[in-house]
Amino acid sequence: MCGISGYIGHRDAIDIAITILQGQEYRGYDSAGLAAIVDGKLCKKKEVGKVAVLKESLELEKWQSQISIAHTRWATHGKPSLANAHPHHDHTHQCLLVHNGIIENYEVLQKELISLGISFNSQTDTEVISQLVGVCYQGNLLEAVQKAVSRLEGAFAIAVMHAAHPDEIILATKESPLCVGRGQQEMFIASDPGAFVRYTRGVVYLHSCELARVTKQGLEVFCTQLKPKQKTIQTLGLEASDVSKGQYPHYMLKEIYEQERSVKHAMLSHCDDAQGSALFEELDLDHLNIERSIILACGTSYHAGLVAAQMLEEWTRLPVRVEVASEFRYRPSIVEPNTLVIAISQSGETADTLAALRALKHKCCYSIGLCNVQNSTLTREVDASVFLRAGPEIGVASTKAFTSQLVLLSLFALKLARLRGMSVQEGQSILRDIQGLPEQVKQVLLQRSHIQDIAKRYACYHNFFYLGRRYMFPAALEGALKLKEIAYINANGYAAGEMKHGPIALIHPDCPTVACMQDLVTLPKMMSNLSEVKARDGKIIAIISEGMKVELADDVIYIPQVRDELAPILTTVATQLLAYEIASLKGCEIDQPRNLAKSVTVE
Ligand code: F6R
Repeated sequence: MCGISGYIGHRDAIDIAITILQGQEYRGYDSAGLAAIVDGKLCKKKEVGKVAVLKESLELEKWQSQISIAHTRWATHGKPSLANAHPHHDHTHQCLLVHNGIIENYEVLQKELISLGISFNSQTDTEVISQLVGVCYQGNLLEAVQKAVSRLEGAFAIAVMHAAHPDEIILATKESPLCVGRGQQEMFIASDPGAFVRYTRGVVYLHSCELARVTKQGLEVFCTQLKPKQKTIQTLGLEASDVSKGQYPHYMLKEIYEQERSVKHAMLSHCDDAQGSALFEELDLDHLNIERSIILACGTSYHAGLVAAQMLEEWTRLPVRVEVASEFRYRPSIVEPNTLVIAISQSGETADTLAALRALKHKCCYSIGLCNVQNSTLTREVDASVFLRAGPEIGVASTKAFTSQLVLLSLFALKLARLRGMSVQEGQSILRDIQGLPEQVKQVLLQRSHIQDIAKRYACYHNFFYLGRRYMFPAALEGALKLKEIAYINANGYAAGEMKHGPIALIHPDCPTVACMQDLVTLPKMMSNLSEVKARDGKIIAIISEGMKVELADDVIYIPQVRDELAPILTTVATQLLAYEIASLKGCEIDQPRNLAKSVTVE
């Protein structure tokens, strides 16, 4: 949520800061702004809307600069407007800063600053930081930032420039991501390092409660008391092509198609064919006496958790709870002994998932983070991390991360099941099915033109149901979420058996049902539920395994047969394509749906 970029060096700082910003636009796109030192003066430019609008208006200015910071906003406090766009200045107009995060005590600080005669120009929480820095400034910018941030409660990553300090950018972080890319006599700043991979692969990640002074020559990192800290330069395992759209019109489509590969990558080095088990060298499970598990996640990752919970319970007989992190964090965190916590998050930065994890961390026997982003906050806070290795997911709607999560969770469930008595033969049979997934994902992707035809018939509807039972219930939730978020269509994901307890009242010819039918155990029941839909003239799109018959359906998408536990992976690839094609027919902004941002770093 909100992206920060910056550059200091010998090249065109404005062009580079804007390019880095565009690589992070998935973090928010309500407004954008930039600050630079031009002919010795601190200048700023802001625009409502996307980075492209800012870029265009900067081109007219023809500014030349070698130092710049920039920001793309996802509005939290104050609507998207010029006044609320970053950068924000202090009362002297000599200092400008950009911010990602939320300042929880901003009202108290604002009152205090107003009592000192400071007037505010925006409705943002961020402006208290710039004003505080201005009030604390006595000639040393680093010290002013340190004093200012010591007063802040909440989460922040900030980049600060000052007219009297044309050779430095000061950074400060608490629980929000920020990193610096090292070049030759030039430095790059970003919330997400993938955004500067085209310039450098050497990266220093700032951790919570660190400050940094960035100059052309280098980077100095400090703790909150301004004692210097040693940091290691890491090498980004990314290529510039990993973060480009390539031949695809949207990142989302590229990422849907990448799933054949990402599903394969997820299982690399985790398969133990001889033992019919899984290998997780990054985890230290052997000495643990796990008696139960709690899974924490939000959104699509929560849906992956729902699938994993059923699988874990069936294969290991361990009781498993899945909790929506934003709700769980406000409940008494009652944890019985020997509880394993699994936090699932593509970004590793989701504020609610992190808060729920923090509430449990000291009460559980072991915590595992399932994450796609190396060095993210989650991976630093859990006992051990398992990485999806799906490559950067840039489309705001999560696709390949979900299927990779499911592959890894099935391998993890297999590992625990084998430790708890599942036979080698059964383990080997499950493993073979997992290893067959990449080819089966490819078969689903080959259905695209058929799914396109179906989309043409259904893009006109305003309401949908997505129904499923057992392993297909989370698949139905996920399918409905994709349609809602990218096509702006009201779609209800429901457990099919619950329909007659109320929602069936909504079934009529103008409300189609997407029936997720790949769960064999519940298929007969699902058929009865669909008869009830048909009896009320509801249209049905069935997603079902090849070889099965479903006469009630108006349209059918056949996908390869697979065991029930793994079926959500294949069904979801089909529902992703359906949502994508409908959104595309409706001309929606698929990669940047309205009101959304990837990496939800605020509550
Ligand atoms: C939906 C989507 C979101 C995320 C959710 C959690 O397509 O992307 O629902 O799944 O915001 O994000 P992570 O997994 O990064 O914690």
